[in-house]
Amino acid sequence: MSQSFLQCTDIHKGDLEALFHQAAALKHERPRGHAPYLEGQTWALIFHKPSTRTRVSFEVGLHELGGHPLYLEQSQTQMGRGETVADTAKVLSRYVRGIIIRTFDHALVEELAREGSVPVVNGLTDLFHPCQVYADAFTLSERWGIEDERASSLQGRKLAFIGDTASNMANSWILGGAHFGMEIALSGPEAFRPKPEIEARLKTAGLPLNYTFTTDPAEAARDADVIYTDVWVSMGDEAEREARLKAFRPYQVDERLMALAKPDAYFMHCLPAHEGEEVTTAVYRGPQSIVLDEAENRLHMQKAILLYLVDDR
Ligand code: CP
Ligand code: NVA
Repeated sequence: MSQSFLQCTDIHKGDLEALFHQAAALKHERPRGHAPYLEGQTWALIFHKPSTRTRVSFEVGLHELGGHPLYLEQSQTQMGRGETVADTAKVLSRYVRGIIIRTFDHALVEELAREGSVPVVNGLTDLFHPCQVYADAFTLSERWGIEDERASSLQGRKLAFIGDTASNMANSWILGGAHFGMEIALSGPEAFRPKPEIEARLKTAGLPLNYTFTTDPAEAARDADVIYTDVWVSMGDEAEREARLKAFRPYQVDERLMALAKPDAYFMHCLPAHEGEEVTTAVYRGPQSIVLDEAENRLHMQKAILLYLVDDR
């Protein structure tokens, strides 16, 4: 088993500043091209759910670093016909330098990492989406940080997560927020309160309970530095669409909610967005929205994460 990135706490706190610095350096040098840091390396990409940003940013990122992305169609692999995760992990580890996977069950990704001997990167599971939170944190650090105090610029900031507070994005912000020293104020319907498993994972990681939950979105949004939301119907939740749209209706991010946050607060969203559902067009396309920078920074931060994982420390 080698070092993997499955949840936000998998990168050592003491390495965060160097990681953010690396992402900034890669972003800066990109127009001139990179040294082939990953030359000769093939990374497998396994996607059991659709993706635009994650797949493209990893494929482009690997290519730009001199590596080779190998996209594996679920229906064209033996895993899709029932070959075990353990055998898949062991066999792929003989061929590739690392595996990037997007799937449903987080336990599958943990098993892949445990049974294989190459780094595994979580490109989203039902439980977590850590690459997104790291790209988002880097996006905020570009606004708040200064040289060598990028990651630490997040400390003490308040992020209000409004909507599906039991989603992979909310879970990731709870762990990521604690890791970065942020306060996370969640607001959603009572039935979507974060699961006890998330609190257990915080404890296992030795992190404080940094989050609050309220059914009142105004309370969560008050004095926030960031208002964050995600789709109301995540991949895999389609059968619950009607019930979810009804339950989340009071949690739409609109200009009234944004006005409760700090005057210089940012609006963030992992995308894809459903304008008119979780966010109004005025907010989504308004001056406080930094959603496209988040999307771009997936590329720069994920390159830094790949280099971190292959670094022989
Ligand atoms: N935000 C995100 O992960 O987007 P994709 O589903 O397009 O990869
Ligand atoms: N919660 C969303 C995130 C998409 C990037 C989903 O899982 O579909």
